[in-house]
Amino acid sequence: MATREATWAYRDDHDEFARTFYRRFGDGIVSSIGVGTYLGDPTDERDDRYHDAITTCLESGVNVLDTAINYRHQRSERVVGRAVADADVDRESVVVATKGGFVPFDGERPDDPGAFVRREYVDTGIADRDDLVGGQHCIAPDYIEEQLDRSLSNLGLDTIDLYYVHNPETQLAENDRGAVYDQLQATFERLEERAAAGDVKHYGVATWEGLRVPPDHESHLSLPEIVERARAAADAVGNTATHFRAIQLPFNVHMADAFTRAAHDGAEGPQSALWFAHEAGLDVFTSASIMQGRLAEEVPDAVAAKLDGETSAQRAINFARSAPGVTCALVGTGSVEHARENVAAGRYEPLGADAFDAVFE
Ligand SMILES: NC(=O)c1ccc[n+]([C@@H]2O[C@H](COP(=O)([O-])OP(=O)(O)OC[C@H]3O[C@@H](n4cnc5c(N)ncnc54)[C@H](OP(=O)(O)O)[C@@H]3O)[C@@H](O)[C@H]2O)c1
Repeated sequence: MATREATWAYRDDHDEFARTFYRRFGDGIVSSIGVGTYLGDPTDERDDRYHDAITTCLESGVNVLDTAINYRHQRSERVVGRAVADADVDRESVVVATKGGFVPFDGERPDDPGAFVRREYVDTGIADRDDLVGGQHCIAPDYIEEQLDRSLSNLGLDTIDLYYVHNPETQLAENDRGAVYDQLQATFERLEERAAAGDVKHYGVATWEGLRVPPDHESHLSLPEIVERARAAADAVGNTATHFRAIQLPFNVHMADAFTRAAHDGAEGPQSALWFAHEAGLDVFTSASIMQGRLAEEVPDAVAAKLDGETSAQRAINFARSAPGVTCALVGTGSVEHARENVAAGRYEPLGADAFDAVFE
């Protein structure tokens, strides 16, 4: 598990970054750039490239790793575990985040995915057929606990630092909103128990659309409601405070709605996801920070002019980690060269809050 002592010591070993590169997360400290592991073919060759990119990042100042059990059919989790073990860093200085919700294949896509899910998950009783949306997504408590155990095993860790319920808005395709919140609360109770047992340190929700679309959108989830459900879950199991600590959502130059759209009811009226999260004491991790590679080719001139960085990718990363309320911008890479370029973005100061606001004027 990432600890306060080890993460602060890690930061002391890396004084080459700009002032706000490291930020508080819980009782520890994290780099404001993290490595993602979503994209790429499910091959041994790509595993090896991820391994080398991740160890490069860990050994050069980035201590946040993001994965999910379904990414590249469990290969990404396994290579994250291998890289953490191999890198010349203390495991306790690294924050490892993963997610459960999408039913994962095992190493490769099976010839008949439906039959695989039936055989491995439904017939074994791990997932109830009625809880599966689209035959491939489930956030029921028993299922998530089973997936959490599998993730611990894939990662080879005793504790997952941050466990997300993955894209809960997917459930809205077949369930009404109240039922989704109820199921989230039931699953949060299990995650509170697993936190008390030391299997996870923090938990949260990772979303694609849920937290950034407007309230009348079919995929909308209310962050205030989710936070309430997490508090109720902590109460129900006798934890003094909730371990719900973070959200993940896409955020980049072209997808800035988590900052611009007031989609969540705060005490004094509607607030953006970033603003509400900040006031609720939640950390925000951004996905698709360089728009799945597209912003490495070009950041719009008007924005690029305001951002520091030598390359487009660096300016795009610095945009995401400049947004008020963002703790860490996740960038996926299976390339050592890109890893070095992305880590080096942290040598530049991000924009201050006023300068960030001015980008939108
Ligand atoms: N909850 C969700 O629904 C969700 C969805 C998407 C992502 N995520 C998480 O967020 C992470 C980041 O998002 P993402 O990976 O989708 O998109 P991203 O970070 O915006 O972009 C990753 C892509 O950019 C390329 N790239 C990285 N650095 C580069 C550089 N310096 N120059 C040129 N190309 C570069 C990578 O290729 P190379 O490998 O060749 O470097 C990869 O194809 C994911 O990996 C995942 O952990 C969560």
